Amino acid sequence: MKDKILNALRENKNEYISGEDLSDQLGVSRTSIWKCIKGLKDLGYNIQSSSKKGYRLEDSQDILNEHELKFNLRTNIMGKNIEYFEKIDSTNKYAKKIAYEGCSEGTLVVANSQNLGRGRLGRSWESTPDKGIWMSLVLRPLLAPQDVHIITLAASVAVVNAIKKATGIDTGIKWPNDIILDNRKVCGILTEMSAEIDRVNFIVLGIGINTNQNQEDFDSSLSDKATSLKLNLPQSKTLNRSNIIKILLEEIERIYILIKEGKIQEVISLWKEHSVTIGKEVRIVHNETEFIGKAVDVLSDGRLIIEDKNGDKKEILSGEISVRGLLGYI
Ligand code: BTN
Repeated sequence: MKDKILNALRENKNEYISGEDLSDQLGVSRTSIWKCIKGLKDLGYNIQSSSKKGYRLEDSQDILNEHELKFNLRTNIMGKNIEYFEKIDSTNKYAKKIAYEGCSEGTLVVANSQNLGRGRLGRSWESTPDKGIWMSLVLRPLLAPQDVHIITLAASVAVVNAIKKATGIDTGIKWPNDIILDNRKVCGILTEMSAEIDRVNFIVLGIGINTNQNQEDFDSSLSDKATSLKLNLPQSKTLNRSNIIKILLEEIERIYILIKEGKIQEVISLWKEHSVTIGKEVRIVHNETEFIGKAVDVLSDGRLIIEDKNGDKKEILSGEISVRGLLGYI
């Protein structure tokens, strides 16, 4: 019933609709309407009530729930099945569990907060409640395990495009898959998979986007390394996370179809277009050896090609290495 009332209010957005009209339209008593409206307000919807005019839905700034995520979602695969949690340990962990149990491709797990958010290289991922996009998608591509990196490259392109569409903000990709804004990290991607020797069973694509954090929301250890979209908007406007997720699902679907069609080089070109690493002098530190060179290319398996001043090239695999620009984080 709540969904029906919400849809009726949406159709009359910014206009009042009387309790009587709602009860006639939906065939329930005015008391039930009143109870549902109260429930919607508790969920965070900003609904004005007037004893004379009825109810009016105000533009919602940031509502994250399953209904909001499904409303006007224009994808065929991504997010067709959604599991939303107010709180979870890690969306990636849960997504892996349901993937093992056989959930369909494109199943989306979203949480308002994570208390054991996981990052790359065994790190933890700070997932402030109410402020970020913490989501995981289950994919089942027909790929060999060694080709899976293309999914992460594609996901970074989709994130950059979605952020631009939803907010107008330009971001860049720091190899292998950090999304950078104002020289800081605004989004991280953690791809995990279950595979046999020659085929992937499933991939869990975990994406964390710092969306509505204020500076004081970040742990002090991250203050010069992390930023949010909100901090980079005029008047620090609060963003609607559901809206960004829906745009992101569309972008992921678009680029995933390119991969399915075998257009791998197209995906790599898009990645390079948005890369802030290619063309930069970088320092690679691995097992106490250091290598300085220019990042010149990326391969479909995610390897970065570095060229030193003598023209010697090295291929760098993501995973155990950290890359830093000579002048700071990127
Ligand atoms: C990184 O270290 O850059 C990757 C961070 C990935 C974080 C996201 S948040 C949603 C999903 N669930 C997790 O536990 N991690 C990923």
